[in-house]
Amino acid sequence: MESLLSEIDHVAIAVNDLDAAIAWYRDVFGATVEHREVVESDGVAEALLRVADSYIQLLTPTREDSPIAKYLEKRGEGLHHVGYRVANCAEALAAVKASGGRVIDEAPRPGSRGTTVAFVHPKTSFGTLIELVEVPEWENNNVPASRGS
Ligand code: CO
Repeated sequence: MESLLSEIDHVAIAVNDLDAAIAWYRDVFGATVEHREVVESDGVAEALLRVADSYIQLLTPTREDSPIAKYLEKRGEGLHHVGYRVANCAEALAAVKASGGRVIDEAPRPGSRGTTVAFVHPKTSFGTLIELVEVPEWENNNVPASRGS
């Protein structure tokens, strides 16, 4: 069977100070921010820095009761989740459920930059929080050919 995971979309890192983290990637590696967004429903602010055909996604909480705030409190800064690009989020999520896996999102929902996403519970995916990311057509037209359809 062909893999449902077409590419690593992003590796997400939880940080206490978003601007400090952005400045570090810029000053040390010359990496620049391609997209910034606050996702109010998740209580998170993010910055996407392109690395070849994927992103580093720096995440910081916008309020104290958000999941990312709780994560930072409990585990400190560090790797938060891996986002896999999928052609169809609902299909990939259904595959997880069909295998008996635990999911955090019962149905696909809107993510940042117009994506459709769903999270898989780390208890199912060997200790790593996984995000299934379906990228809209408009972005596919915007990214390097290797990422396109
Ligand atoms: Co993500």
